[in-house]
Amino acid sequence: MLILGIETSCDETSAALVADGKTILSSTIATQLDLLKKYGGVVPEVAARRHAELIGYVIKEALDTAGKTLDDVEAVAVTSRQGLIGCLMVGVAAAKSISYARQVPLIGLHHIEGHIFANILSNPDLPVPHICLTVSGGHNMLVHVQNKCRYELLGTTLDDAAGEAFDKIAKFLGLGFPGGPAIDKLSQQGNRKAFNFPRPMIKNKALDFSFSGLKTAVINMFKAQIAGGEPLPLADIAASFQEAIVDTLVAKTLRAVEEKDLKIVSVTGGVSANSRLRQVFTEVCKKRGIKVFFPKLSLCTDNAAMIAAAGYARMMLGERSDLRLNVFPNAPLGG
Ligand code: KG4
Ligand code: ZN
Repeated sequence: MLILGIETSCDETSAALVADGKTILSSTIATQLDLLKKYGGVVPEVAARRHAELIGYVIKEALDTAGKTLDDVEAVAVTSRQGLIGCLMVGVAAAKSISYARQVPLIGLHHIEGHIFANILSNPDLPVPHICLTVSGGHNMLVHVQNKCRYELLGTTLDDAAGEAFDKIAKFLGLGFPGGPAIDKLSQQGNRKAFNFPRPMIKNKALDFSFSGLKTAVINMFKAQIAGGEPLPLADIAASFQEAIVDTLVAKTLRAVEEKDLKIVSVTGGVSANSRLRQVFTEVCKKRGIKVFFPKLSLCTDNAAMIAAAGYARMMLGERSDLRLNVFPNAPLGG
C-alpha cells in the first residue's frame, strides 16, 4: 500500500511516500530555519503561515521524487494530534482534500506515535515490547511500547523537554538555533566534567523528567563567571550541560527497563541525533545486555515518513479517520 504521509505539527513542512510501511520512496522536508533564526524560536502563527505557503510544493516534490502521481497514492496519513494548532490544521486540511478528491482512506495520527515508528522504520527488526525514550524539542516521554500501536505512558517532562533545554541554553550562550546540534558540536571540544551541574530527579523513583532547574543552574553559573570577570569556557559549559542531560535520560530509561523487566530500548526524536547520548546509551546498554536502537539521522527530527509508517500500521488494524478529522494540540498518546 502506497501511503502519502504529511507532517506539519511544528516547524517542518514535510511529505513522504512510503510503501507498505517500510520502504521510503521519498521524504521531503522544508525546514523553517530562516524564520527560526530571525525570531530565535518558533512563532506559532508565523510557522502556520509558512506551512500554508509550502505544503503544496512539498507534496508535489515528494511525488516527483518518488516518480509517482496522486493517482498512485492509496491512502493519506497525517499528524492531527499534539503540536501547534494552526500548524496541524494546514497539514490536516491538505490531507483531507487529497483523501476526498482521490477517494482514498485518511488516517490522523499522534505525533509521538510517528517518532516511535521512526525507529521501527529505521530498524525493521526492532522487537516489541520495548521501552521507548522519545525526546525532542516539544516532548520528552518514556513509553512502554506493548505492541505496535499499544502504548503505556511511563513518564513525561514536568516542565521543559530536553530539546527545549538544549535550545534555550544554546540561545543563552549565543550558539544560535536549533541549539541541540550546536551544543553537540561544541561539546566535542569541551571537558564534560568541568562543571558539576544537577541531574534533575535522577534519584527520584518516578519516571518523569524536569530540566528547568538544570537550565537555571547553567544560567546562574554563566552569570557568576561573567560577574567574576573570568574567561567563559563555552565548550566546557556546553559539554557539562549536555552530560547532565544525557546522564538523566539514560538513568530514567534504565529504571523503566528494570521496572518492566525488558531488555530492549528504542531512543527516538530530535535529541536522539545527539552523538554523546548515542555513545553513552550504547556503552551502558552493552554492559547490561540490553539492545538499544536509534533511528537513522534523517528520521530523528520531524518528518512525514514516520507518519506514513505509523499510518500503515494503524490501517492494517482496520483503523480509518473520516472528513470530520479534527486537530488536538494536546492529546494522550494512543487516544
Ligand atoms: O523531533 P523534533 O524535530 O521536533 C519536535 O518534535 O520537537 O526535535 C527538534 C529538537 C530541537 O530541540 C533540537 O535542538 C533537538 O531536537 N536536536 C538535538 C540534536 N539535533 C536536534 N539535540 C541534541 N543534539 C542533537 N544533535
Ligand atoms: Zn517531533
